[in-house]
Amino acid sequence: MTQLHNYRQQFPALANKDYFNYGGQGPMPQVVMDTITEAQAYIQKTGPFSYEVKDWLEAEKAALRVAIASEFNVSKDTITITEDVTVGCNIAMWGIDWHSGDHMLLSDCEHPGVVAIAEEISHRFGVEVTTCPLMTTLNTGDPVAVIQEHLRPNTRLVVVSHVLWNTGQVLPLDEIAELCNHNQSLLLVDAAQSVGMLPLDLQACGVDFYAFTGHKWLCGPEGVGGLYVKAEARERLRPTFIGWRSVTTDSHGRPTGWYPDGQRYEVATSNYPLYPGLKQAIAIHEEWGTAEERYQQICLNAEYLWRRLSAVPDVKCLRTAPPESGLVSFQIGDSKIQTMIKLVKFLESQGSFVRVIADPCCVRPCVHYFTLESEIDRLVEGVREWVRRGKE
Ligand SMILES: Cc1ncc(COP(=O)(O)O)c(C=O)c1O
Repeated sequence: MTQLHNYRQQFPALANKDYFNYGGQGPMPQVVMDTITEAQAYIQKTGPFSYEVKDWLEAEKAALRVAIASEFNVSKDTITITEDVTVGCNIAMWGIDWHSGDHMLLSDCEHPGVVAIAEEISHRFGVEVTTCPLMTTLNTGDPVAVIQEHLRPNTRLVVVSHVLWNTGQVLPLDEIAELCNHNQSLLLVDAAQSVGMLPLDLQACGVDFYAFTGHKWLCGPEGVGGLYVKAEARERLRPTFIGWRSVTTDSHGRPTGWYPDGQRYEVATSNYPLYPGLKQAIAIHEEWGTAEERYQQICLNAEYLWRRLSAVPDVKCLRTAPPESGLVSFQIGDSKIQTMIKLVKFLESQGSFVRVIADPCCVRPCVHYFTLESEIDRLVEGVREWVRRGKE
């Protein structure tokens, strides 16, 4: 326990609150903030524009790509550095050579940003976009069978999240990838809630595109994330946003072609000091334990929260069995959005930070592997207190 308390001291944001919004944004360790500041200072001292800085930058980009690839168990050539989840999804969704009459299948639990991309693609190219109902498979039902029912011979792309951001359900990605592969549909996975939470082996799993961010469960800085593009899928996915980072050049500086690897989807100047910051954040988690060990602890913490919440009168956890992710969504009272917002504001006034989800309307506390039982106890006590006060 002392070890855990010492470990948590690295995260300044955890010092003055009980934090449960890892699915929104993870708290940054002090060493990550220091790394970013030092990188900025180094750039200013040595350049900012100089050959030495250029070499440093190339080395940092390469090192981040290696760190991300090792999290996913894939080759570094498959990794594109992006700004966030949504940029990665845009690269995958717009890069397909769409034709009028093609079909795109989304789950009914995708993030509004991703839904908006699909709608614009539909509008521009005459692509038919439909959704399949996965929300109702949280406790019973088979998400793979539901996706299978909604696939069509002309489904070019399937878009699902690995961990559903509203209910916390973990989808069986291996089976979904196999299904899509069999139907010759590409599979894009929104990994906003899975990277930094689940142990991952994308090579074994066979997804085509996996888009994530560093600022949620990895507790890195906001503004840097990545996209995995399977080597075989790369030849079918053309770059959409293009710049000097996408292309090789000849001795006159003229573009000669795409980079042969994931760099082809990178565009131009970025906030480079964030790169060593994210690399440092990944390293901190690895120092604590393996991805399996961290995930097991997340599940233990989630089960503890789920059991304690389930015992509060008026509370209904969305899951009827212990959660399989760190997202422990619940409803209370009349399940109306205004009620949830009032509860979340009350909890924030008590020092417990959670958020409201609109569909299904619920409150979503998230637990990480370093969440304390005492934090969970105070959160549940806050919910009890609110119920006791009669939700005024
Ligand atoms: C499932 C899911 N997709 C996408 C996003 C958007 O992430 P970003 O801002 O990194 O693009 C979020 C953020 O909450 C999310 O939960």
